[in-house]
Amino acid sequence: MANRISDELIDRIREANDIVDVISEHVQLKRAGGNFKGLCPFHQEKTPSFNVNPARQIYHCFGCGVGGNAITFLMEYEKIGFVDALRELAHRAGIALPDRRSERIDAEDDPAVVANQMALAFYRSCLEGDAGTEARNYVKKRALGSDVMSAFAIGYAPAGWDNLLKAARRKGVADSALVSAGLVVERDGGGFYDRFRERLIFPLLSSGNRPVGFGGRSLGDQEPKYLNSPETHLYRKSYYLYGLSQARQAIRLSREAILVEGYMDLLSLHQAGFHNVVASAGTALTDEQARTIAKYADKVFIAYDGDKAGISAATRAAETLVQLGLKVRVAAFPGGEDPDSYVRQAGADALREVLTSSQDFIDFYVSLNPTDDSDDREKAARNLIETVVGIEDSLKAELMLEKISTALSLRPAAVARVYERRRAERQLRGRGAQRLRGRAREHAPGSVGGNGRQTAGPDASPGSTGRQDEGVGGYETAGAHYIAQKGLLGLLLAGGEGAERVRSCLEASDLTHPEIRMLAERILAGPASEDPIDIAALVDPRDDRSLAVLLTELTVLDPVERDGGRLCDDYIGVIRKAQIEGQIRDVDKEIRAAELTGDEERATEAIIRRQELAQLLSGLSSDR
Ligand code: CTP
Ligand code: MN
Repeated sequence: MANRISDELIDRIREANDIVDVISEHVQLKRAGGNFKGLCPFHQEKTPSFNVNPARQIYHCFGCGVGGNAITFLMEYEKIGFVDALRELAHRAGIALPDRRSERIDAEDDPAVVANQMALAFYRSCLEGDAGTEARNYVKKRALGSDVMSAFAIGYAPAGWDNLLKAARRKGVADSALVSAGLVVERDGGGFYDRFRERLIFPLLSSGNRPVGFGGRSLGDQEPKYLNSPETHLYRKSYYLYGLSQARQAIRLSREAILVEGYMDLLSLHQAGFHNVVASAGTALTDEQARTIAKYADKVFIAYDGDKAGISAATRAAETLVQLGLKVRVAAFPGGEDPDSYVRQAGADALREVLTSSQDFIDFYVSLNPTDDSDDREKAARNLIETVVGIEDSLKAELMLEKISTALSLRPAAVARVYERRRAERQLRGRGAQRLRGRAREHAPGSVGGNGRQTAGPDASPGSTGRQDEGVGGYETAGAHYIAQKGLLGLLLAGGEGAERVRSCLEASDLTHPEIRMLAERILAGPASEDPIDIAALVDPRDDRSLAVLLTELTVLDPVERDGGRLCDDYIGVIRKAQIEGQIRDVDKEIRAAELTGDEERATEAIIRRQELAQLLSGLSSDR
């Protein structure tokens, strides 16, 4: 295994190089108060917005958003890797590094990654070996060919409680690494057992083609049919899209993606020659997943199951995607079919035909809902307009409104009026949420957690997330909610009384913004201290770059005032409110979905739940 450079050595190298000196070798810096300023080397500018903070040993550009410590600066500036940047800084400071052959610093050093890679190889070999006969038969039955099997690295976890555990021990992979990767489960009486047993294994690969988790399908009727890895630091369910690493290139080239629900759908489509397919696999499509798709595609074909649940999930996914400004088409499969069964039975050309004749969001919606009398048309129009209200791009919104008026034979001016009013209301409410910030502290919440997020629908696996927090569609509290989360992180970073208060009433899981949450997790895992946190040490160059950017943006100007306890309460009030509002949004969708599928019992339950939530919310607001 790779011989890693110790964290202490990295710290020593960092501390031996003053960031102002390092950056000054490349950028002309001038003192400005406690900071240094210069023209940003990472984007074109005439007035300096590139800041270097010597006290915290970090830099941040307010023009283009870059930020980090001395190591990341060199990585970015010289376009070199972490080890090379470290090497250069070590050389600069006269510190010896272990020689190049024995050193490799990258994600391979993360024990969970190593464990996942070992597990992947193990599952692959089990599928080929003696224990894999039954699984190979299953694969044959599902008509998966060897190309797709190897492109997706499909494997098999044999029956038995400790096959992986033992194989890992033989290879020197620690039990703790298996635990952190979610590959084994702790027994009540101590010890561990394999999570995946007697299941076909679908590795969940990252964009760098590393396994971050696994999905497993039982070969027979054992429940659950699918079992997935738990959420770990590598596997973030609300972000993860199955198949993206294999589909990215095809999506990028065609600017079109096909979205399916399941692993098998994806594999079958891939095998039939559709390489631009991704699956939300196990969660209702989240905003984060949708945003990832939007990076590569302009148009998304939703190809969900043809049953009731599939149609209502497709409706929700379509709304989410439409609000991001994507062109959406919804493919219709005959009743009991899903894309996998359809393509196997009808063939690739038939599937292509289904995609070609798929409906845009509005036609899809109208085809599902009655529009016979004027009441129906009014209701349909209001629902559709509600989705359009969430579209940021005004030209796209305009075109949708036009379609709505055509589809429902309504005068464009009438549709536009309703839209404008809803849009204005939404903006007003946004401001109301800001005002609340100043008052919420009277509410004095305990932990703001609550587990009201079980809204991902009946098919969702445990741990799957419904939609949460700031959609690009811009929920009412998006701004305030984000500011509050950032503010709480700022308080944690600043130390002192504010940080203490945050520690006493906040859990990292209350924060929905993934990067803020991850940083909060790191800080909260450490000991409480009076002193400000060592920011530069928190910036790990192996992190996603946006993490460093966020962190440095928060702290480079050190803006946090000292009345931390009060600020903390204000922010927590905002977060509590956003949580309830998020739950209400989910319930609203649930209500619409239930109405859509004519499930009255489900609708009634949801309506009652909505009333309870609304009451909670008004209680929160009247605390002012
Ligand atoms: N899923 C899950 N947990 C379950 C059931 C489903 O995570 N208990 C996820 C899986 O990613 C699965 C997808 O939801 O691929 C779709 O589920 P479903 O439609 O029930 O399965 P199919 O894809 O049709 O699988 P199969 O054809 O193997 O029955
Ligand atoms: Mn299926």
